[in-house]
Amino acid sequence: MIRSDLIVDKAGKLYISGNFWQTKTRIDRLINTYITQEKLSDLLEELPKQFILPKPRPWAKIAWKNINAKEIVGIKQELFLNLIIGIVNTEAPIRGYTQTSRQYLAEIHPDMARFVGGVVGTDSKILELGLWEKEERQHSPALIKTYQQLTGNKCVINPYVPTKYQQKQDTYQDLYRHGLHRIITEYSAVCLYLWLMSQTSGTIQQVFSELLQDEINHMTKFLGFGVWLFPKFKFRNLSSSTAANKLSKKTQFQFLANLSSTFRRMMGVLHWHDWSIAHKLELIYTFIRVFSCLLSWHRTLTREYLEKILGKPELSA
Ligand SMILES: [Fe+2]
Ligand SMILES: [Fe+2]
Repeated sequence: MIRSDLIVDKAGKLYISGNFWQTKTRIDRLINTYITQEKLSDLLEELPKQFILPKPRPWAKIAWKNINAKEIVGIKQELFLNLIIGIVNTEAPIRGYTQTSRQYLAEIHPDMARFVGGVVGTDSKILELGLWEKEERQHSPALIKTYQQLTGNKCVINPYVPTKYQQKQDTYQDLYRHGLHRIITEYSAVCLYLWLMSQTSGTIQQVFSELLQDEINHMTKFLGFGVWLFPKFKFRNLSSSTAANKLSKKTQFQFLANLSSTFRRMMGVLHWHDWSIAHKLELIYTFIRVFSCLLSWHRTLTREYLEKILGKPELSA
């Protein structure tokens, strides 16, 4: 039995089946460790270097054999395992997501297109993997390994089929709509993995910490790049922001419809109806706190600062 009063892990003091306020201290500690303003700025500032020399972030060594059920400290094991299957179904297969994003970026910013989806030959063969794909494709195998280590069974998955590239308006409007959606999914992954770190300890928590750091990295780079490319982007008011970026009413409606269908799908994937009120509040709290960190960081992204990092956008919406 783990003596919770003796253990301090990456989220601070460990509470077995902690109440909302105890878990909140763990969430706060994780946010203060992983989502500082300096870290977010460093992640954005390294983007131009990664256009030239793409290098995946190395993971710390994980002792997979040490994974055991006692490391799930905050939620019921059954719910935890269902969550893992749901997340794997959304994370895999990453190839579909990376190629869709690459196509939206190809004409506007070839370097960023290469960063997300690599280089593709005329016969649609992948000649080089994108850095985003290299990092993301480690996620579902890590979760599957965790599941198998916990249950001794194979993890049966049923992956979601990602939406394909669809040219609808002009290329900037299409990218704006797609990119916003992509940032929101990375942000959701950040919040979910951070919350899962608050519910676990030991090696399982370490696995989530690797996933979390990758997702923070992608969310930050995509958001910073988006703010640079779309100067009229308003973080506080997405609907006035979409209007300011001259998105037609139809595109705005499509964006909101897509977002609400993604949200509904995520509720199903996460088995939201099985969650206790305390867990629901903890996750909502995580979403609000992470959003406020991003909001503060967004205020530091002046034109001068962004153009020092990424140059002047050749053309922008
Ligand atoms: Fe991921
Ligand atoms: Fe992601």
